[in-house]
Amino acid sequence: MKVSHALALLFIAWFAVLGRSQAVTLEVNEGNSTCIKAELSASFAITYNTSNSTRTAQVSLPDSATVDTGSSSCGTDSSSPWLVAVFGAGHALGLSFSTNGSLYSVANLTLQYNLSDTSTFPEASSSDVVTVVSSSVGIWATVNTTYRCVSPSTFGVGGETVTFSNMRLEAYMPGNDLSPTESICMADQSSTTAPPTTASSTTTAAPAPTPPGTPERGTYSVKNSNGTTCLLAQMGLQLNVSYFSRSQNKTIQDLVNLTPSQTNSSGSCEASSATLSLTQEQTTMLNFTFTLNSTSNKYHLSAITLLANWSDMSVALLASNTSLNYLRGSLGRSYMCNAEQVLAVVPAFSLNTFRLQIQPFAVTTNQFATAEECQMDQDQMLIPIIVGAALAGLVLIVLIAYLIGRKRSHAGYQTI
Ligand SMILES: *[C@@H]1O[C@H](CO)[C@@H](O)[C@H](O)[C@H]1NC(C)=O
Ligand SMILES: *[C@@H]1O[C@H](CO)[C@@H](O)[C@H](O)[C@H]1NC(C)=O
Ligand SMILES: *[C@@H]1O[C@H](CO)[C@@H](O)[C@H](O)[C@H]1NC(C)=O
Ligand SMILES: *[C@@H]1O[C@H](CO)[C@@H](O)[C@H](O)[C@H]1NC(C)=O
Ligand SMILES: *[C@@H]1O[C@H](CO)[C@@H](O)[C@H](O)[C@H]1NC(C)=O
Ligand SMILES: *[C@@H]1O[C@H](CO)[C@@H](O)[C@H](O)[C@H]1NC(C)=O
Ligand SMILES: *[C@@H]1O[C@H](CO)[C@@H](O)[C@H](O)[C@H]1NC(C)=O
Ligand SMILES: *[C@@H]1O[C@H](CO)[C@@H](O)[C@H](O)[C@H]1NC(C)=O
Ligand SMILES: *[C@@H]1O[C@H](CO)[C@@H](O)[C@H](O)[C@H]1NC(C)=O
Ligand SMILES: *[C@@H]1O[C@H](CO)[C@@H](O)[C@H](O)[C@H]1NC(C)=O
Ligand SMILES: *[C@@H]1O[C@H](CO)[C@@H](O)[C@H](O)[C@H]1NC(C)=O
Ligand SMILES: *[C@@H]1O[C@H](CO)[C@@H](O)[C@H](O)[C@H]1NC(C)=O
Repeated sequence: MKVSHALALLFIAWFAVLGRSQAVTLEVNEGNSTCIKAELSASFAITYNTSNSTRTAQVSLPDSATVDTGSSSCGTDSSSPWLVAVFGAGHALGLSFSTNGSLYSVANLTLQYNLSDTSTFPEASSSDVVTVVSSSVGIWATVNTTYRCVSPSTFGVGGETVTFSNMRLEAYMPGNDLSPTESICMADQSSTTAPPTTASSTTTAAPAPTPPGTPERGTYSVKNSNGTTCLLAQMGLQLNVSYFSRSQNKTIQDLVNLTPSQTNSSGSCEASSATLSLTQEQTTMLNFTFTLNSTSNKYHLSAITLLANWSDMSVALLASNTSLNYLRGSLGRSYMCNAEQVLAVVPAFSLNTFRLQIQPFAVTTNQFATAEECQMDQDQMLIPIIVGAALAGLVLIVLIAYLIGRKRSHAGYQTI
């Protein structure tokens, strides 16, 4: 029983960390020897144009990704080692390596995606195969060691972002398996050395972060292509993010309120899914995806994605979970929750909502339909009722006690 519980927790944690992405193992061989080996999870945020808007697709490197032996190579005197993984309908991820004898690094990162794949890029206006390259992504390790980075790290590649997590990787391998000695990335070092540093910093200088207070309530909406409003939302939003702070040189827990006046909303509405995208000053992008089950006529918040690129972050944070089940409501109704709700997304990011009302489907005449209230609000309404009932009960008991007392004393009087 205990073991199965622990296992279940482990699985939940695993899925929470990875969202939908799986750890994939990729190897490049020459003859009988392996020169590059990578175990990693990767996800991509790809922005593309539809006929009259832009959209962001979240793509994970699937389990079925394989090494493209045609373009991958262990390198020659004139060319660098290259690992190319292909997946889906003509998508590819490439890592090219270079070394100076004592260190090796990922020289550049290539992402290729096929916009004709309409299941991944619905309504894309182009059908091109797009290739984007970034150089010097900062993945490097000592030769004959394995580069290890369990923490998610996000890299901008062209206009897209690539996020690696649970990464173990080696190039210029001396043997056929990953070297036992590891070069650990900065983000992992900070999380393992965090307890001692926080202990010492609290005794020396404690720059107590001022809590931002309750966020202001914003009103957001999404319009259809024909200009009618198809999604309505009113809510106060607070991001609870843990990241490696450059200024404090450690991992910190940060609470950041979204400021409605600096936040733009956009999105899209389809028959069974609706997306609300909130962007604050180019540095914070928060996406909500709602899914409608047309059998049960119930909707829920099924995915949250956060892309945060704040000045104090050592790497941008991309956090995504596409298997959520929050804010459940019925088609034709809005969902309301005045009480604070904590929507856990990934371990490093949760979202706190305040005074929320949302309607992702069947919006007519720009107004919220009748609201279905969350359990917490109903419980809060119960409190006065319970208190009232308890007071009434107390009054009744006192009254009965008084009546009985009066009767007794009356009876006692008569016997004397
Ligand atoms: C690969 O291994 C086989 C048997 O282990 C050996 O006969 C062959 O020569 C090796 N090839 C190379 C290129 O090392
Ligand atoms: C999307 O459209 C905008 C203008 O409509 C254009 O500037 C941009 O290059 C397009 N992006 C892509 C990826 O095609
Ligand atoms: C892109 O996707 C389309 C449709 O899925 C497919 O026909 C085409 O072969 C793909 N292109 C490449 C380069 O794989
Ligand atoms: C390789 O590069 C690193 C960092 O740039 C440098 O510290 C090291 O001395 C270089 N090694 C050689 C053999 O050039
Ligand atoms: C990637 O880096 C390698 C090694 O530095 C270089 O040979 C190759 O041309 C680069 N590719 C691109 C597309 O920049
Ligand atoms: C984060 O912002 C910096 C500077 O504003 C930019 O150079 C970088 O590409 C951004 N990273 C991502 C992943 O968007
Ligand atoms: C890496 O290992 C190989 C084989 O064990 C050895 O020949 C080479 O000198 C090592 N390189 C470094 C930089 O330690
Ligand atoms: C958006 O595109 C559709 C066709 O795909 C068109 O009917 C509609 O007028 C366009 N809307 C705007 C605002 O350009
Ligand atoms: C606007 O488009 C939606 C579907 O995209 C449709 O249900 C609705 O009737 C349209 N409204 C008008 C006024 O054309
Ligand atoms: C923020 O998240 C951390 C870790 O999940 C949690 O301990 C903390 O209570 C949260 N703070 C708020 C205000 O939600
Ligand atoms: C950050 O902290 C690490 C160890 O905690 C230390 O080695 C490093 O020098 C520090 N860097 C800066 C810039 O303070
Ligand atoms: C939709 O709801 C029905 C009834 O509650 C359920 O059986 C079905 O699995 C749901 N479909 C999806 C895709 O969740």
